[in-house]
Amino acid sequence: MTEIPEHLLKRAAEARSRMTGGGGGDAEAAAPAAAPAPAAAPATPAPVIAEEPAAPEPVAAYVEAGLSRKRVPVWIIPVLLFLPLWAIFYVGYLERPPAEGGGLLAEGAEVYATSCAGCHGGTGGGGTGHQLNGGEVLLTFPSAAAGGAFDGIADHLAWVANGTAGTDALSPLGYGDPARPGGGRVPGGLAQMSGFGGSLSAEELVAVVYYERFTHGGLEAEAAQTELHVLEEVVHLIDEEGLDLGAGVAVEEIQAIVDEARAVAGAGGESAAG
Ligand code: HEC
Repeated sequence: MTEIPEHLLKRAAEARSRMTGGGGGDAEAAAPAAAPAPAAAPATPAPVIAEEPAAPEPVAAYVEAGLSRKRVPVWIIPVLLFLPLWAIFYVGYLERPPAEGGGLLAEGAEVYATSCAGCHGGTGGGGTGHQLNGGEVLLTFPSAAAGGAFDGIADHLAWVANGTAGTDALSPLGYGDPARPGGGRVPGGLAQMSGFGGSLSAEELVAVVYYERFTHGGLEAEAAQTELHVLEEVVHLIDEEGLDLGAGVAVEEIQAIVDEARAVAGAGGESAAG
């Protein structure tokens, strides 16, 4: 705001006093200068000025609010920068097809990497333990969903739960398909594998078995879908009935759960198709 020069104010006051007939010339010229000065406020005895003091003195409420308001916290900056990234990941997560990427397969890959890869190789090529990739694991535990004569899922689950010693105790004659090319497997035939029934949850165990069957065994798409549905149902039944795939679980017990899961999954598939 620009101030009106003193001499102009004076001239205006003189002109005004000339028009009104003079008299209060001095008083009127002083008024504009005196008004903004806060010193005028305490002069209470003068009745005319006494009405005014409220206006110039307190800071307006909105200015005061602005001054006392808390500043935007510094941490909000990284949070705002991160927000778009989060949105992208979140949308990506929602769009991922549940049967393919997420669920059992992803969980199984994690379990395999931490608990099994050390002996069977990162890609299942073998080491201390048997080679699993190139379809080898499905020669030992064939897929009924892919038309295998021997139904290998329950044996596969029981093997991983029990390991060499546990399997030897339950079925010393062998595990997996007895008609396996190259001869049926016998516990201790290669070396010792410990059982994982005690250290993995039932879901983790089912997940790593599905991972091996899908990734190393090379299940065809349709058989993979069927096995996935059956194994998801197995997890569901185990949860529901409070069962466990702990060490010492017999193949027959697992087979009963697999059969029940197949019935449920099969019924679901038929009703969905019809
Ligand atoms: C300490 C090394 C070691 C670890 C760790 C290990 N295995 Fe094994 N695995 C073996 C050995 C050794 C055998 C053969 C056992 C025998 O001859 O009795 C085997 C056999 C197998 C077989 C049967 C393969 C066939 O064709 O006969 C499967 C399936 C298997 N392991 C899965 C797993 C899974 C799943 C994990 C992780 C949860 C795992 N293994 C962790 C050493 C290991």
